[in-house]
Amino acid sequence: MSSTSVLDVTAQEEGDYVVYRLGNKTFRLDKAKSRERLAGKRVINGLRGAELNVLPLKYHEAYRIYKQMKANHWEPDVIDMTKDCTQWNGNALSAKERWIIEMGVGYFSAAEGIVGDSVLHVIEDNLTAAELKHASLRQIAEESIHMDSLLHIIGSLNIDLDEVTAKFQDIPSIRRKNEFITRHMPELKMGIDLTRTANKQKFAKALFGITQVMEGTQFYALFAMILSLHRQNKMTGIGQMFQYTLRDESNHIALGLYILTELIRENPDVWTPGFKQELVDFMNEGVELEKEFVRDCLPEDTVGMTQSDFLDYVEFNAGRRLASLGLPAQSRVKSNPFLWLDEVIFLKKEKNFFETRVTEYQTGGSVKNTSEDDLI
Ligand SMILES: [Fe+2]
Ligand SMILES: [Fe+2]
Repeated sequence: MSSTSVLDVTAQEEGDYVVYRLGNKTFRLDKAKSRERLAGKRVINGLRGAELNVLPLKYHEAYRIYKQMKANHWEPDVIDMTKDCTQWNGNALSAKERWIIEMGVGYFSAAEGIVGDSVLHVIEDNLTAAELKHASLRQIAEESIHMDSLLHIIGSLNIDLDEVTAKFQDIPSIRRKNEFITRHMPELKMGIDLTRTANKQKFAKALFGITQVMEGTQFYALFAMILSLHRQNKMTGIGQMFQYTLRDESNHIALGLYILTELIRENPDVWTPGFKQELVDFMNEGVELEKEFVRDCLPEDTVGMTQSDFLDYVEFNAGRRLASLGLPAQSRVKSNPFLWLDEVIFLKKEKNFFETRVTEYQTGGSVKNTSEDDLI
């Protein structure tokens, strides 16, 4: 078996051809056509074609992230919820801990759908380069997996679906968070003229809002609360799903950042001092709404969880998202209050879902047979 990574990409001119090597596969492209296609590739306002035009590859990092996303594939409904059910129906959880789980299910049930819909109709629709669209479509598929994981939780714990929906509609901090992120979306879904600077900025702001403010900042405090419970051996099935979700989100944030960076590089007219400030203000508003949400999720400290750490975590994440775009972060929080969480994400990157399943079935002495059907 070849040890060449599929992420290794080389291109070499040979006579009238460009020879692409992706991992252990080779593609021969006509040199003239290849140059023409490459020249027409843009993040927005590029050539649109229905043919398979990922090659010639211009946006290598998007293709690498796509491959990484695919390697991280997981399936929610094979994750064992038996222990979670016992804890949920018994008295293993305090009222404060139950509330965190309820907020997690209530918030993410809607939020995952909002992200999926926005990536499809606002981001993917307006991108023109095939490899960027390709990676975005993979992200949309992952948002569907995340929605499916919520269904698996709701169904396993026998939570009333209407109650979950009502929670989303009735809790002001959740409603405000989601309205804040979606308020500019309707216009962008109509298909705006992206040759105009003001419209490019609207698109860039939406991309920033979805991937850096919402996924990159507003998802993380609640992730951290649920994974704090997981660390205490509570609701471990949900914890496992949230670990996989968090690993996916780190790729979505990286993809969003990459697309945004390339968009700005190709369209320097977007990157004005006024627009930079607009993004900083947008993030700051998102941070204030998120802090309000954290106070709702964790009104006071509980075992292993201190409210002020989670508030700091919001600022810390906002700061690192802004810094990744070269924007000034006014945050007073310079270090991560949850270093253990980064370790969880890092370790999970090394973990293959399918191999883990096989190992767990074997070591757990499960009654279930491991068959191909279980895994796919
Ligand atoms: Fe998601
Ligand atoms: Fe996501």
